[in-house]
Amino acid sequence: MYAQMVDTGANKLRALEDMGPEERAFQERVDADVKIEPKDWMPEAYRKTLIRQISQHAHSEIVGMLPEGNWITRAPSLKRKAILMAKVQDEAGHGLYLYAAAETLGVSRDQLVADLHAGKAKYSSIFNYPTLTWADIGAIGWLVDGAAIMNQIPLCRCSFGPYSRAMIRVCKEESFHQRQGFDIMMTLCRGSAEQKAMAQDALNRWWWPSLMMFGPPDAVSNDELRQRFVDQTVPQADYLGITMPDPELKWNAERGHYDFGPIDWDELYNVVKGNGPCNRDRLQTRVKAWEEGAWVREAALAYAEKRAARAQKAA
Ligand SMILES: [Fe+2]
Ligand SMILES: [Fe+2]
Repeated sequence: MYAQMVDTGANKLRALEDMGPEERAFQERVDADVKIEPKDWMPEAYRKTLIRQISQHAHSEIVGMLPEGNWITRAPSLKRKAILMAKVQDEAGHGLYLYAAAETLGVSRDQLVADLHAGKAKYSSIFNYPTLTWADIGAIGWLVDGAAIMNQIPLCRCSFGPYSRAMIRVCKEESFHQRQGFDIMMTLCRGSAEQKAMAQDALNRWWWPSLMMFGPPDAVSNDELRQRFVDQTVPQADYLGITMPDPELKWNAERGHYDFGPIDWDELYNVVKGNGPCNRDRLQTRVKAWEEGAWVREAALAYAEKRAARAQKAA
């Protein structure tokens, strides 16, 4: 879910008149906010960046199903179970739009999935944390989907047509996810002292990893988006009556923003390197699901071939 705007890969230091005709046409389209479509000429670096970014994004959606999927059988009511199933299914859908968008660039989904399963491809580190209680499902929707929306809204305007169109739909669904998470938190915070403590515990564990979702400090937009997320989320926690696990968090009237304490980047790098609490478990679960689902893919393929053969015969 952590994603940035796409670097076009065109050499910006070069004046338009020094570019070849194809590169110039490409750059002019990008500058004029006209979407680049799969069959258009594009610089190799642009194609590569897009494949990497879109596939990482797709993997994040799919791996992101796992921590929440763990709670489908244990949701506290039939209504919560139905909502959670719909939410996890949405994430599968996000993965599918994104794999399909990546395939328009000339890679196969099988290859992308193989890279994920071999540990060669990255996905968002946030999904390497465990979901210990039901309140974690609330905290994930509220904070993780909330941070994802903030990261992804700029992508609705990205230059590559299939990615930008997929992101418009994804963002609409993410805002539902965010609200369902907040709704779980609200129910817990209005409940017994034990339920409220559970909500506070989940906030304590998910707050810092959520801030890390915006990526390391940079000159472009990570810090700006992170600040926006903090400014939006702190009043929501106040409303819930729970507090961020950050003693340095306070309103700065001069800046018109919340100040917050330092982020432990060593923790993020450690999780990125594969040493988070659940990295191994997540990949194993994915590989097992892929292997056990092989017969479904084979059956679907055989059925499609049979139908095509019948249609050909009839024609
Ligand atoms: Fe999603
Ligand atoms: Fe989501």
